[in-house]
Amino acid sequence: MSALQNLPFNVREIREQFPALRQQVYGKNLIYFDNGATSQKPQLVLDAINHYYSKENANIHRGVHYLSQRATTEYEAARTRIQKRLNAKSSNEIIFTKGTTDGINLVASSFGNMLQAGDEIIISAMEHHSNIVPWQMLCERKGLFLRVIPINFEGEILQDEYEKLLSKKTKLVAITHISNTLGTVNPIKEMIAKAHNVGAKFLVDGAQSIQHMSIDVRDLNCDFFVFSGHKVFGPTGIGVLYGKEDLLDQMPPYQGGGDMIAKVTFERTTYNELPYKFEAGTPHIAGGICLGKAFEYIESIDFKAVEVHERALADYASQVLETFEGLTIIGDAKNKTSVVSFSLKDLHPFDIGTLLDKQGIAVRTGHHCTQPLMDFYKIPGTVRASFAFYNTIEEIDAFVIALERSLNMLK
Ligand code: ALA
Repeated sequence: MSALQNLPFNVREIREQFPALRQQVYGKNLIYFDNGATSQKPQLVLDAINHYYSKENANIHRGVHYLSQRATTEYEAARTRIQKRLNAKSSNEIIFTKGTTDGINLVASSFGNMLQAGDEIIISAMEHHSNIVPWQMLCERKGLFLRVIPINFEGEILQDEYEKLLSKKTKLVAITHISNTLGTVNPIKEMIAKAHNVGAKFLVDGAQSIQHMSIDVRDLNCDFFVFSGHKVFGPTGIGVLYGKEDLLDQMPPYQGGGDMIAKVTFERTTYNELPYKFEAGTPHIAGGICLGKAFEYIESIDFKAVEVHERALADYASQVLETFEGLTIIGDAKNKTSVVSFSLKDLHPFDIGTLLDKQGIAVRTGHHCTQPLMDFYKIPGTVRASFAFYNTIEEIDAFVIALERSLNMLK
């Protein structure tokens, strides 16, 4: 608790930037603990959405007119801002996508096209469906093999098993940076180095890390890093695929259409340069610009302090929840942040989630798009509280009281 009191940022001031947090549901103050699913938006982003559609709305990269040029400038400025924040070498390495799922599908389709029958892809047992199914589909299409690194009961990837799976046949390793269900922070930098030792590329699913820590793609030395805008305080429907420029250059386009071409004839089409080669059709212009605003917002926040704060929230929540009879915390990794998932003997997560909701508390219940992980733990699902930097210890105290009340009702 003292760590929280000494924070170099003021949570109350931060909360003032998020109007959604200042509302009541069912007559109770909203406690929003579903940040793993999506984050709330700061005023800067809300204003930018309004401003874009009121003053700048025009198609980009096409018009000679003022509005189109202005929208193009803003959109490309957002790309550069994101490039700088990720420490990518060039803005050509920042591809706007619809989100994490879209980014992974892009890589599976495009990079996957360059693979040969018999090649292998490695994922882990804690992946989200979006980092399982695109690879399964690719394996089926191209005759590849999908290998899965097992985890221990604490929810940590077994590194010796990973090393055993790596071979010259491994062409890609795709691993979540932070588990959306367990909160495990994977040792991604070390895993990337191991993949490179056998000549494999590495994709980091950053859907649950970009909002919790500073990401430096050059320091990680990942080949791809994907994330969704809406989990990092931006709009839905926009996301980013970072890819190393030489790799993206070698990869064939994902989708065909306007903007991704250099020259089209009925006989032959040549493709645009990066990043446009991977951005067919009118993109989510407002989304890109407002994701840039979300990045402007997070630049004003000390992410070292965020990490301390969020780990303290998760630790405190775990400590208090552990005192509940029949409650099991799912995922107890040594390196864990921002998520507390739990199951309660003989009670369905959905029933607990519904009773918490009626008391103004938003959590996610169910399998969290990680069904194989639920099978591993032999449970139908969990109740998941997932935190952002605007959450507080007081909210956790209120959550615990509400949980006690819910359990009494279900007795
Ligand atoms: N992947 C999101 C979650 O974990 C939707 O809730």
